[in-house]
Amino acid sequence: MKTKVLIMAAMIGMASAAKAQQTKDIKLPQPEMSLEATLMDAFKERKSTREFSEKELSLQELSGLLWAANGYNRPEEKKRTAPTAMNRQEIDLYVFTKDGIYLYDAATHSLKQVSATDGREYIAAGQDFAKDAPVSLLIVSDMNRFGSNDQNARAMSAADGGMVSQNISLFCAGAGLATVPRGTMNKAKIAELLGLGENHILLLNHPVGHKK
Ligand SMILES: Cc1cc2nc3c(=O)[nH]c(=O)nc-3n(C[C@H](O)[C@H](O)[C@H](O)COP(=O)(O)O)c2cc1C
Repeated sequence: MKTKVLIMAAMIGMASAAKAQQTKDIKLPQPEMSLEATLMDAFKERKSTREFSEKELSLQELSGLLWAANGYNRPEEKKRTAPTAMNRQEIDLYVFTKDGIYLYDAATHSLKQVSATDGREYIAAGQDFAKDAPVSLLIVSDMNRFGSNDQNARAMSAADGGMVSQNISLFCAGAGLATVPRGTMNKAKIAELLGLGENHILLLNHPVGHKK
């Protein structure tokens, strides 16, 4: 009996070690805190762009993008670049790339891989230009964290997601990148891929890339 338990424990250990090796988490570099563009330049340049070059985003660009979108700007208070109603911090950002799907962890400024699938076609959902972008950010409300899922809570959370969306658009405008906020996506397929349930709202997505 004891040997059987030990063999099972070893097998479980081996399985979790294999899983850890398979997942490719990414530690992002520190975001660069200066851009040539001023805030007023960013407002001037903010627009929806639906054409993307094939050029990949660098890790440095991705770092700045995610930090500006919803990173900790006051880490000592665990507070972020985007406000949330009652400081619920229920907004999550998923990063879709050709190599898989990652969840942005603001506390460690890193990406946790949640799927090895290239899910960008489910983001595009018929708007083919979105498949050309090397990265798509998906903005999701986790209503479990909000503490309620009634109509008022959902309205508040949609507003919270809008704050993150505008941060993304303004960062892109300032950094010379292309993006468009989108409601279009295959929500059922994405929810299935990410294991999201009825307490998660898939709010918006942003294909992001270099200008064509
Ligand atoms: C909530 C929201 C949802 C949107 N959904 C889509 C979309 O699914 N596909 C798309 O191509 N553009 C989408 N857009 C972009 C709008 O079409 C665009 O913002 C609008 O035409 C104004 O253009 P501008 O962003 O260049 O000012 C969306 C914008 C918002 C704010």
